[in-house]
Amino acid sequence: EPSQSETSAERSQKLEGIGCKRKRVEDIRFTQGHGNYVDDVKLPGMLFGDFARSPYAHARIKHINKESALKVPGVLAVLTAEDLIPLNLHYMPTLAGDVQAVLAHEKVLFQNQEVAFIVARDRYAAADGVEALEVEYEELEPLLNALKALDDDAPVLRDDLAGKTEGAHGPREHHNHIFTWSAGDEAATQEAFDKADVVIEEYLAHPRVHPCPLETCGSVADMNPITGQLTLWGTFQAPHVVRTVAALITNIPEHKIRVISPDIGGGFGNKVGVYPGYVMSVVASIVLKKPVKWIEDRMENLSTTAFARDYHITAELAATKEGKVIGMRSHVFADHGAFDACADPSKYPAGMYHICTGSYDIPTAFCSVKGVYTNKAPGGVSYRCSFRVTEAVYTIERAMDLLAQKLDMDPAELRQKNLIQPEQFPYTSAFGWEYDSGDYPTAMAKTLEAVDYKKLRQQQAQMVEDFKAGTSREIMGVGLSFFTEVVGAGPSKNCDILGINMFDSCEIRVHPTGAAIARLGVKSQGQGHETTFAQILASETGLPADMITIEEGDTDTAPYGLGTYGSRSTPVAGAAAARAGRKIKHKAQLIASHLLEVHHDDLEWDVDGFAIKGMPDKRRSMKEIAWAAYNNLPKGMEPGLEAVDYYDPPNFTFPYGAYLCVLRIDVDTGVYSVDRFYALDDCGTRINPMIIEGQIHGGLTEAFAVAMGQLIDFDETGNILGASLMDFFLPTAVETPKWETDHTEVPSPHHPIGAKGVGESPHVGGVPAFSNAVNDAFRAFGGVHTHMPHTHSNIWNYARSLGMID
Ligand code: CDP
Repeated sequence: EPSQSETSAERSQKLEGIGCKRKRVEDIRFTQGHGNYVDDVKLPGMLFGDFARSPYAHARIKHINKESALKVPGVLAVLTAEDLIPLNLHYMPTLAGDVQAVLAHEKVLFQNQEVAFIVARDRYAAADGVEALEVEYEELEPLLNALKALDDDAPVLRDDLAGKTEGAHGPREHHNHIFTWSAGDEAATQEAFDKADVVIEEYLAHPRVHPCPLETCGSVADMNPITGQLTLWGTFQAPHVVRTVAALITNIPEHKIRVISPDIGGGFGNKVGVYPGYVMSVVASIVLKKPVKWIEDRMENLSTTAFARDYHITAELAATKEGKVIGMRSHVFADHGAFDACADPSKYPAGMYHICTGSYDIPTAFCSVKGVYTNKAPGGVSYRCSFRVTEAVYTIERAMDLLAQKLDMDPAELRQKNLIQPEQFPYTSAFGWEYDSGDYPTAMAKTLEAVDYKKLRQQQAQMVEDFKAGTSREIMGVGLSFFTEVVGAGPSKNCDILGINMFDSCEIRVHPTGAAIARLGVKSQGQGHETTFAQILASETGLPADMITIEEGDTDTAPYGLGTYGSRSTPVAGAAAARAGRKIKHKAQLIASHLLEVHHDDLEWDVDGFAIKGMPDKRRSMKEIAWAAYNNLPKGMEPGLEAVDYYDPPNFTFPYGAYLCVLRIDVDTGVYSVDRFYALDDCGTRINPMIIEGQIHGGLTEAFAVAMGQLIDFDETGNILGASLMDFFLPTAVETPKWETDHTEVPSPHHPIGAKGVGESPHVGGVPAFSNAVNDAFRAFGGVHTHMPHTHSNIWNYARSLGMID
């Protein structure tokens, strides 16, 4: 109980509310090995399922001999597409309006595609069953190059779509065509290009990568044959959506399905979609009347679950000779793999790619995206970004550097000339987005000053001279990026998933002693929600954060929400939490007026309770009010202190930042070292500065990984290269550069506490900063553009192609 002598500031500090560097409460269990992940779920009589997968990227299935697998001791069932057809479950709907094979029927369309599900008493027997299964294939020509997918003689991949001329997003032009989508004003943009003094055009590939969370995907399904109740534990970033989809495709009533996302070891978009493994664990549990567990191994995760990027981008800018950008255009070939299982709001098959005018005041713009099928794994997801924003920001930020080069101008100066100005907010972009708030020039100026930009450029020029004089073999690159994210999906006018609007929710119950539990519709995968949502509620209700338990991920208890991805938790569920807290406070004020025997208008809020205006000693703390809510209420008021809020945001939030990377390259080996990486972020009101810093470190590390090393590649037969951590680059503390973080704080005008999302910003802004730095190093040597990933060997080859190595 606060003593009367405590000042407001002291009481405020005790709450550990918004702005406090509160230690992460969830880390007590994570750091001591007491997390509860899906593979920790162990049920009596539980069986294990494992997939037999295709060795080929494109082949016809001639015959499956189940008997060979059924002979393995411990194997109880072998399920194939033939078993699923009577249940109408051999295909499942995808989030993108396509269907995806749960088990391959007649054909396989990518290497490691699921062909049969083998259920056994233990994992070992299941794996032996997979080994023993005999499948006869007839190999077909694979299609691996998205740019050739629409050729007349390209192989036909999707036999199941034969004759289907309408896709989910308009007419289909070709057997491998999924959709063509465009935004902006094509004619006006053409006019801008016609009258421009300078134009640039470049092909920028954003290669296929994988989110690669530390924990792979998995599920445990338990169908109770007596009650008809299905309980499904799984690695789900959006548990409620999984419940609804499961109800729709299985016809099990939704109230009989309980979906639980326990602790999740990283998602980054990989755990948004629905995978065949989830479906098969449910089917197997229904068939065998026992709980069934399915857990992927690392190779399965990297080769079959949702990939990211694979965008083949052409970027164009039109500008005056002084460097004012007057038009922007971009065409994309999007490689969606064998099934369109991309995770985007229904209306946007290319996600938010049309944020690609970036942070600049560009009057006209046009973009178009063509989605195509190839013999690769499905599931394009936003790997730590809000629906293709990384691709969009890469496009504009590389393009700005290319334009600066063509104009022989400094990249920072060109950006400064074109940044949206503070007085232009709310700013409507050429694509129609309404950017909510920002002060871009200040962020840019602060960045350039912090790194002493002028001096860096002098150093760089000196190194160019030394290299050209033959006294040094080292060059230096300075990579800038100024990014704007669009996060917090989303306003229902823009965003839905399968027709469900993308709102989110918070329900709070304050117990008689002033302790509380709050449940939300989002689901942390390590972002620290148990810590930060309690901070929002502490500031709003005056109850200390450590008296508020945060719970997420159980559809039987949490209010409906659309889950966590696209940095939407703070912008949407965080707003719902603030508003639920305000509803609690509203009732508390009425109770306090009864306790203090004054009209509620005569009360004022003071940190953690209500006091009579002008009489700070005449007060009732929230703790006292909570007690009264259960035994001493105004006449006619219902007991209890609970509130629920469903929040449909009026707009997205637009966090932004200015990043700068300095690296040195040893030309003869292609080996680089990152000398400096400075990241200034603005995410509006900062809830927990320590968690924000952690989010930025993590996001920058993943940006570094993508730009400098990650690649999911294929050989000419469709063999996946890079499906293990021997080949796929996952940086450790050894490779990871040191990060310098900084911030400005311009609140969002429409969010109840002014907060914007932050989790993905560093990834979005980080990738182009690295790529610009590598490209910038070669600018003085005739380099124009070299593609990611910037591995040592790719850098070395590029230096050779420019004649810098004999
Ligand atoms: O949706 P997701 O949790 O991935 O992303 P987010 O909303 O950006 O939040 C990531 C973490 O940063 C959460 O723990 C937030 O509470 C915290 N955060 C913050 O402290 N202040 C902000 N303005 C934004 C996020």
